[in-house]
Amino acid sequence: MDKVKEVLHVGSKSKDGKPSEPSAEALADLKAKYTEAGQEHVLNFYDSLNSQDKAALYDQLSGFNPAYINEITKRALGETKSDSPDILEPLPESAQASILDSSADDVKRWHGSGLDLIGNNKVAVVLMAGGQGTRLGSSDPKGCYDIGLPSHKSLFQIQAERIRKMQELAAKKVGADSSVVVPWYVMTSGPTRRPTEQFFEENKYFGLDKANIMIFEQGVLPCISNEGRILLEGKGKVAVAPDGNGGIYQALVVSGVLDDMRKRGIEHIHAYCVDNCLVKVADPVFVGFSSSLNVDIATKVVRKRDATESVGLILSKNGKPDVVEYSEIDQATAEAEDPKHPGLLKFRAANIVNHYYSFRFLESIPQWAHKLPHHVARKKIPFADTKTGETVKPESPNGIKLEQFVFDVFPMLSLDKFACMEVRREDEFSPLKNARGKGQDDPDTSKSDIMSQGRRWAAAAGATVVGDGGIEVSPLISYGGEGLEKLSGTTITAPAVLERE
Ligand code: UTP
Repeated sequence: MDKVKEVLHVGSKSKDGKPSEPSAEALADLKAKYTEAGQEHVLNFYDSLNSQDKAALYDQLSGFNPAYINEITKRALGETKSDSPDILEPLPESAQASILDSSADDVKRWHGSGLDLIGNNKVAVVLMAGGQGTRLGSSDPKGCYDIGLPSHKSLFQIQAERIRKMQELAAKKVGADSSVVVPWYVMTSGPTRRPTEQFFEENKYFGLDKANIMIFEQGVLPCISNEGRILLEGKGKVAVAPDGNGGIYQALVVSGVLDDMRKRGIEHIHAYCVDNCLVKVADPVFVGFSSSLNVDIATKVVRKRDATESVGLILSKNGKPDVVEYSEIDQATAEAEDPKHPGLLKFRAANIVNHYYSFRFLESIPQWAHKLPHHVARKKIPFADTKTGETVKPESPNGIKLEQFVFDVFPMLSLDKFACMEVRREDEFSPLKNARGKGQDDPDTSKSDIMSQGRRWAAAAGATVVGDGGIEVSPLISYGGEGLEKLSGTTITAPAVLERE
């Protein structure tokens, strides 16, 4: 592991979380490293700290390689576009499928093979829940959020219940007893780890076995001033921020998640974002589709609403799978029509950050994680003045946070190792980004999308639904609309809740 950490530029922090004051020699070594990188100001107040704070600062600084921080900052700030125009094409047809127009037989086949893989304990899920949810504005991690369903279930609970149900469905498919396990790896960050752990504990792991849930933590990077200097938050602490959802790759290795997957014999991984209340956790169709193509990464997309929707697009860029942001394409490209499907946009595969990975690919993380680029987010970052130590709260952006993006790994693959599956937006994607009242991607739209889906499921099962509003169908009753035959011929007055059978 130490070798791997070196390659990934992860420093060696104290192992038991209880740092002790360094020897004079160790301190001198650290000082030399920071001085050589022109970042020695981070130790300006060291001598004035008490023993505990000295130990903590030493430990924090040992976790970074200042030369590497300088290098990635320089690279991120110098991000330049190449002069030659990018060649953008939709992904080749062989790498795409759409649930919207695939044959029912294909979908059934993928579903069946995916369920078999889950039933044979080959599938795990990884949740990205390390974001700070600043737009939502809740002080708790996003997964704890109650979107206002009649049951008041949190996002974590909804996802946990989908896993429970999927374990049950897969066990039934393969004729196993209750031994089907879909391990759930929950990525948190410094700010979200403790409250997430506490929430899971208080809620008794939502009925899942604690032994199959691993809450781990992504890395942080120092915040950097506009002048390229590492910012201090206080006299004895560097200002840090989570390293973006692309930090998942390094974290999977460093936190031991990959080792755990290897021990369990996991071969297929579904990774998703905490804020999508409609996410089909461990979706057998997606797993079956991806594994049947023998790809290393697959991604779900939804159909871009119109040429102006602000979404990233999954496509082929210069012959490699990639994501292109809406701001990076010109109007003509955004509006281009698909010659094979008149009336549809040529580039319509909207990214929803919902991925499949083969385990064999994740095993190669140490070979490439350090090559993933960092992106710059300019922010107002409170900092300690390096002369006086006093805290300054800036009025305008004074520095940058460095973030990796989870999809920056796509171009490392060849097109034949990448696939994309188009899914119905109303069935699979409703992100919680904004505070209530925004009218878009907020708690009310999340709630309404779940309730409307339940209403559609009940109607499809043959129920007559009267009244306005939707139906909350517990994931413990139905994962994706199946198993509702008993509703046939009944009348349901909405809004309603279908909890345990
Ligand atoms: P967003 O980029 O939407 O960030 O994250 P956010 O934290 O949820 O919200 P804002 O931007 O602060 O308002 C997309 C997904 O990536 C995860 C989030 O938890 C979410 O599931 N993420 C983001 C991480 O896991 N780590 C990060 O460092 C950043």
